[in-house]
Amino acid sequence: MGGRIVILVSGSGSNMVSLARACKTGQIPGDLVAVVADRPCAAIEKATGMNIETLVLSPSEFSSRDEWSVALRDRIATFEPDLVVSAGFMRILAPEFVDAFADRLINLHPSLLPAFPGAHAVRDALAAGVKITGSTVHFVDHLVDHGPIILQEPVRVQEGDDESTLHGRIKDLERTMLLRACRLLLEKRVQLRDGRVVAGHAAAPGSRG
Ligand code: GRF
Repeated sequence: MGGRIVILVSGSGSNMVSLARACKTGQIPGDLVAVVADRPCAAIEKATGMNIETLVLSPSEFSSRDEWSVALRDRIATFEPDLVVSAGFMRILAPEFVDAFADRLINLHPSLLPAFPGAHAVRDALAAGVKITGSTVHFVDHLVDHGPIILQEPVRVQEGDDESTLHGRIKDLERTMLLRACRLLLEKRVQLRDGRVVAGHAAAPGSRG
């Protein structure tokens, strides 16, 4: 049994599918134990089709955002995750949530952070006329799309790109990056120490040592 992974999603779930396959084929030393969303979405349907446990917890079921965040934290804690991956999760994670999973909570963002944080990173990069953008995998801290960077890869903007073509190429890259990041973390080859990403000591997957 490898490290336990929970993924947070809101959308199409292409990264979730690639992560699920990589776990099943042993490409990464982990098990995708749950797919969690804030709304019904394609990612949840795909996870159900792959026989992965799902949970949809919508903020509208709670009287406040804080109550939802705490419920989300507590439900996710029951999965005992070694790694919590936010991939296209369209909600801001509250400090109570972030603190609970601080050294094992990562986010995938379609720009070279700190450039273009927020929900429209690809559109904003095109509007700014940059020639190179890309993707970032980072630990999550209390700010939005912010925190110690684990991996970053560039993507060149091409003549005639629109949001969809550019995001498509970024997502092609992200699928590989996310797997690499999960492997590095589960094998403890990188770790968060004093707010910085440092080389870790390899340990047996699944052990927290
Ligand atoms: C990815 O581009 C990710 O960087 C961003 O949302 C997108 C999720 O895509 N945060 P998918 O749902 O995995 O297809």
